[in-house]
Order: sequence, then structure tokens, then C-alpha cells
Amino acid sequence: TAHEVRIAALDRVAECPADGSILEACLREGIWLPHSCTQGTCGSCKMKVVEGEVDHRDSSEYTLTPEERAAGIALGCQAAPRSPLVLEPLEQVDPDDGVPRHPLRDHRGRVVVLDDIARDIRRLVVELDEPMAFNPGQCAEILVPGSGAARQYSMANPPSETRRLEFHVRRAPGGVATDGWIFRDLRVGSTIELKGPLGDFGMPVAQEEPAILVAGGTGLAPLKSIAVHALAHDLAPQLHLYHGGRTEQDLYDVELFRELEREHANFSYHPCLSEQDWTGATGLVTDAVLADFPSCRGLSAYLCGPPAMIEAGVKALKRRRMAPRKIHREEFLDTS
Ligand code: FAD
Ligand code: FES
Repeated sequence: TAHEVRIAALDRVAECPADGSILEACLREGIWLPHSCTQGTCGSCKMKVVEGEVDHRDSSEYTLTPEERAAGIALGCQAAPRSPLVLEPLEQVDPDDGVPRHPLRDHRGRVVVLDDIARDIRRLVVELDEPMAFNPGQCAEILVPGSGAARQYSMANPPSETRRLEFHVRRAPGGVATDGWIFRDLRVGSTIELKGPLGDFGMPVAQEEPAILVAGGTGLAPLKSIAVHALAHDLAPQLHLYHGGRTEQDLYDVELFRELEREHANFSYHPCLSEQDWTGATGLVTDAVLADFPSCRGLSAYLCGPPAMIEAGVKALKRRRMAPRKIHREEFLDTS
């Protein structure tokens, strides 16, 4: 069975299976709703249930407090409908903000590249049977065969390439998708099943202010997509890309970014190493940003990587007076 789900503010309706998430049903229908992790951890998909009843399923009380539940709030990415629903996202949606919205779809593809490009990092390139439109910064959820598990990976290629998706995957020791599959059994020629696009991180339309892009590890993936797309379409007056690693073994695509630096006067690339003395910047990548920018007033930032890096980055940028609404972030949550 399925129930009708109405998003009152947008005057749009989706049919949602009784065992499916409300967010997924809406995204498949092309109704864009705020979301980020789709795993029940970030809270950005909270919705007010105006009419009807939901099954909260795996919603944790860390993300959705008992008080919020009692007040009729639900997590769109976890909750399923028990009856027809009328809903209101807590975060406002502006359907006229100029950002293109692409419906969520299932895709199948074939691995065409699988390369070790840095310590514990593989580049995975998938050629899809059908094109997938997406915005730079968005991700796809890849199904791990035989496990029932799915994991998100950000597209590293610009959205002009809709058939050939590039991912950067870091090995998580003991991890189901990485150690147990992508770094073990996956081969060039293997079939991949995924769904996408997902997530609302990125710079899909032009902005007036310069931007600082800060990546930790494979957090570089969405920022590479954003940088390449933004430079090709003149989306920002200036882009400063920072990439943090421990040693040179953690860096990758260095030549590509050096080349972009030569081609675009408004682009700069700053690799930063925390455990190696070298000719470039040393220390934590967020400290390198602090050292280079006495003030971040009037700038914006896009941060992607592990939660500790994001936290340090947000703190650093606020200390330098960046407006909180100009700080965009994507956390690569895992349990390690
Ligand atoms: P999991 O099996 O999920 O385990 C993660 C870690 O936790 C492992 O080290 C494992 O040993 C440990 N662990 C698992 N269970 C337990 C337990 N019970 N007790 C203790 N430890 C445990 N990653 C990328 O590399 N590139 C990307 O572009 C990328 N994009 C992302 C985008 C988004 C929006 C999000 C949310 C995440 C993204 N990630 C990305 C992270 C990615 O989705 C996975 O979380 C990551 O690859 C780990 O998956 P896994 O199945 O290998 O590990
Ligand atoms: Fe639902 Fe993150 S908690 S998208």
C-alpha cells in the first residue's frame, strides 16, 4: 500500500509506499525537500506533520528528541506514512531560488576505472546506462552487493558529465562497503547499482563573494566537482581550495589543481600536511586557512570531510567573522 503525502507550502503531492521514507518518495517525484545525510543523523530533513500519522521507524532520539516527536515533528528520511499526510518542512524551501532540482532515480552502471590514487584512497569511475543529472556537491548512494547496505559517495566530476561518475573512496578499516567490497572484490567491468542525486551541498548557481573550499581526505571529491564547474561557468569571483592530509601520500590530483591554477587567475590551490615538513603549508588545514585570511568577512566557505575537521573549520571561519549562513558543510559521517 501507499499513501498520499502532501507538502502544503509547495502544493505538491507524492505517493509514498507504507514501507518507504517520505523524503525518498518526494525526491523521486521531483519535489525537492531539505536533506543532507539521509541516514537519520543530521536533522536537516525535519518536518512538521500537520495532518495524519507517521511511523518514525529508526529515528534516533539524538536527532529527533522525544519533545520534538511529541510536538509532531518527524525525520523525513526515516519516517514512513501510516495514513495520508500533510507535511511542512521546518527549513524553508524556496522553489524559485534558481537552483536546478533533479529527481532521484535508480541507476545501473559499469566500473571503468578503479585506481589507487593515494594512501587508502581509490578513484572509482562508473559509466551509467542512463545519464544522471546532478548539481556539483551532490552525492549518490551506492548499493553494496549481498549486504543490503548502501553508502553515500560524492560525485567528483562536474555535472556536465552525466554518464560518467567519478568517486573518491577512502578505505575504512573493517568497513562493509570499502574494506569488504570496493578495496577487495570490486573490479573494472563490475556492475554497480546506485541511486541519486542526493544532498544539498554545493554551489549550483553564481555567487558574488569569493569562496574558500576546505577538504579533508576524500572530502576533496565534491569540492573538485564544485571547483571545476564553478571555474567553467564563472560562478564565483575567486576560489581558494585547501586540501588537508597527513603526508604527501594523502594528496592526489595535485597536477590537475596546479593546471587549473595556471589556467585560471581566480583559482588557488593549497595542499596542507599535518605530519610532514615540506615546501608547502604544514599543520591542520583549518589553521592554514586562519593563517592566510586575517578576515573572512564577506566570503563564503564550503567544507567537506570528517566531523572533527568540519567542527574546527566552522569555528575558525566564525572567528574570522564569516557569516554563519555563508558556511556550507558536508560531513562524511562514519562510525570510526
Ligand atoms: P562501515 O561499515 O559503515 O563502518 C565505518 C567504520 O566504522 C569502519 O572503520 C568500521 O570498522 C567501523 N565500525 C562499523 N561498525 C562498528 C561498530 N559496531 N563498532 C565499532 N566500529 C564499527 N566517503 C568517501 O570516502 N568518499 C566520499 O565521497 C564520501 N561521501 C559521503 C557523502 C555523504 C553525504 C556521507 C554521509 C558520507 C560520505 N562518505 C564518503 C562516507 C561513506 O558513505 C561511508 O560512510 C564510508 O565509506 C564507510 O563505509 P563502510 O561501509 O566501508 O564502513
Ligand atoms: Fe534526515 Fe539527515 S537526518 S537527511
